Amino acid sequence: MNIGLTYNLKKDCSSSDEEPPSKFIDSEAEWDDQETIDAVREALAVHHNVTLIEANDTAYEKLLQHRAKLDIVFNMAEGMNGVSREAQIPAMLEFLGYRYTASDPLTLTLCLDKARTKEILSYYQIPTARFSSVIGWNGVPHSAPRNGLNGTNGLNRLKYPLIVKPLHEGSSKGIFNDSVVRSRAALRDTIMRVVEQYQEPAVIEEFLPGREFTVAILGNGDDARTLPMVEICFDHLPEGANPVYSYEAKWVWDRPSAPLKIFECPADINEELRAEIERICLRAYKVLGCRDWCRIDVRLDEQDRPHILELNPLPGILPNPEDNSCFPKAARAAGMSYVQLINCALETALRRYGLI
Ligand SMILES: Nc1ncnc2c1ncn2[C@@H]1O[C@H](COP(=O)(O)OP(=O)(O)O)[C@@H](O)[C@H]1O
Ligand SMILES: [Mg+2]
Repeated sequence: MNIGLTYNLKKDCSSSDEEPPSKFIDSEAEWDDQETIDAVREALAVHHNVTLIEANDTAYEKLLQHRAKLDIVFNMAEGMNGVSREAQIPAMLEFLGYRYTASDPLTLTLCLDKARTKEILSYYQIPTARFSSVIGWNGVPHSAPRNGLNGTNGLNRLKYPLIVKPLHEGSSKGIFNDSVVRSRAALRDTIMRVVEQYQEPAVIEEFLPGREFTVAILGNGDDARTLPMVEICFDHLPEGANPVYSYEAKWVWDRPSAPLKIFECPADINEELRAEIERICLRAYKVLGCRDWCRIDVRLDEQDRPHILELNPLPGILPNPEDNSCFPKAARAAGMSYVQLINCALETALRRYGLI
C-alpha cells in the first residue's frame, strides 16, 4: 500500500551530557526526533511505500497534492500551536477524506485537556484523583469541578498534598519536582508559575501516593488489549525528590551516560491488581473514544486502588531500547519488535476501515 507518514520534527533535541537541556526547546518537547521518524518510516517500508509529510506550514498543500495516491496516513504529528494542536493534522485529513491511524480530532483534543478528560472519566465512574482547575489564583474556574466539588470552592476542599500541572501539556512539561505542594502559599506560587509560563490554566489534583504504572493499549472494540504493564519506579531518583515522573526525571536526571533506572517491565504486580488496572484502562480508552492505540498513566491511592492520571492517544515511540520509551518497551515484553509494533498499529487502523 501507499502510506503517508505525518510527523513533527524536533529541530534541536540536544540534551547531551555536557549540556543539560539548555538548548532544549520546550514547545517542541512533544515532537519526534529524526531517529524516531526514520525508524517509523523504515518499519512501514518493510511492507509498504512510504511518503513523508512534515506537519509544518505547508502540510495542507502537501496532503492535498498526495491525496489521490495515498491509501492511508500513519499519523504521529503532535501539531503546531494551541490547545487543539494534536487535532490539527487529523482535522485536515478528515477534511480531505483521508483514512488515518489513531484517534480523531475530538479525542485528541479532549485528552490534551487533563480536566475535561477527568470530567468524562468521573461521569463514567472511572477512578481519577479529585481535582479542580483554575485560570489563575482567584481566577475564574475553567470548568465546574466534578467529583463532588463545586465552583471555586473546589480548590479549598482538596486535601494536601496536591500536584499542580499545566492543563494542556504533555511530556512532563511544567511538571517539576516542586509541583507537589503542601501549603497554600506553595499552591499559589505553583499555579502562578504554570499560568505565566504556559499562558493556560493549571489543573490541581490530589496527590496519589502509591505505585505508578503506564499501560499500552492496542486494538479497537472487543479486540482492544493491554500490553505488559510498565511500572515507574522512583527508588533511583535523587534523595529527597518527590515520587513523580517530573520534567527533571524525564529530561535532566536521565542522561545517556547515567541512565535512570526508572522503568520496570513487566511490572511485578499481583493478578487482582493487574486485572483491575486493565479494566479501568480499557474502559477509559473506550469512553474517551480512543482508536488503534493509546498509553494510559495510572497511579494507586493510599489504599492501593488504581486511578487514571491521563491518556496519551499519540504515544511516544522512541525506537532505541536504551531510551526510556514505554510503548515500545511494553511491546518488546510482549515479544513484538519495533517493526511489528508499528505495523500492528497500522494494521489495526486498516482493519477498522475494513481494508484488511
Ligand atoms: N494526581 C497525581 N498524583 C500523583 N502523581 C501525579 C498525579 N498527577 C501527575 N502525577 C505525576 O506527574 C507525572 C506527569 O503527570 P501526567 O499527568 O502524566 O503529565 P504528562 O502529560 O506530562 O505525562 C505522572 O507520571 C506522575 O508521576
Ligand atoms: Mg503522563
